[in-house]
Amino acid sequence: MPDIRLLSHAETLDHIAALTAVLADCIADNASLGFMPPFSQGEGETFWTGVAEAVGRGEVLLYGAFVDGWLMGTVQIGFALKPNQPHRGDLMKLLVHRAARGRGLSTALMAAAEAGAAASGRTLLVLDTAKGELAEAIYEKRGWQRSGEIPDYALFPDGRFCDTVIFYKRLT
Ligand SMILES: CC(C)(COP(=O)(O)OP(=O)(O)OC[C@H]1O[C@@H](n2cnc3c(N)ncnc32)[C@H](O)[C@@H]1OP(=O)(O)O)[C@@H](O)C(=O)NCCC(=O)NCCS
Repeated sequence: MPDIRLLSHAETLDHIAALTAVLADCIADNASLGFMPPFSQGEGETFWTGVAEAVGRGEVLLYGAFVDGWLMGTVQIGFALKPNQPHRGDLMKLLVHRAARGRGLSTALMAAAEAGAAASGRTLLVLDTAKGELAEAIYEKRGWQRSGEIPDYALFPDGRFCDTVIFYKRLT
């Protein structure tokens, strides 16, 4: 069983190198995650420093999946901040390093993130994901409802267009 931990602001800063390595590995694997090559260490550190700050403000739950003490996977719940959406959150950046895939890390991360969101009073989660990739099937298997697709929404790191699929899940 992977060891899933909810990371504090300080723990996020402690693990920035590992978080950056996981993100870089997923981009190198052509996952559409908001970044294009060349993806630098500095870009990764800036991104995760911003996440750490959001964790510190209580706007994000950040989970790490550890294998033999090494952070090899991660996921986030971003709390919707608009006053009329106190019940909603976004599931973001489900990432597992290729060296640790197929061992249940994403399954354990998703379970922890959904439970954490529910424990924080969120009753609705939303996400978007690249169409035709493994994650799409994983979300469907976990009971997420597909609400639609948007063609050519973003680019894959290799420059091809990437359709996106929007999913939601009620936690009640
Ligand atoms: C998608 C991703 C998170 C899956 O992580 P993982 O830890 O390897 O997944 P798990 O081991 O928990 O497997 C989850 C399910 O997918 C299946 N699976 C895993 N790898 C698979 C593969 N290569 N082919 C087919 N099915 C696979 C597992 O059997 C499991 O199914 P089950 O619940 O029926 O047993 C990982 O591939 C990844 O980081 N991809 C790049 C980043 C990305 O696209 N993230 C999504 C952003 S929205």
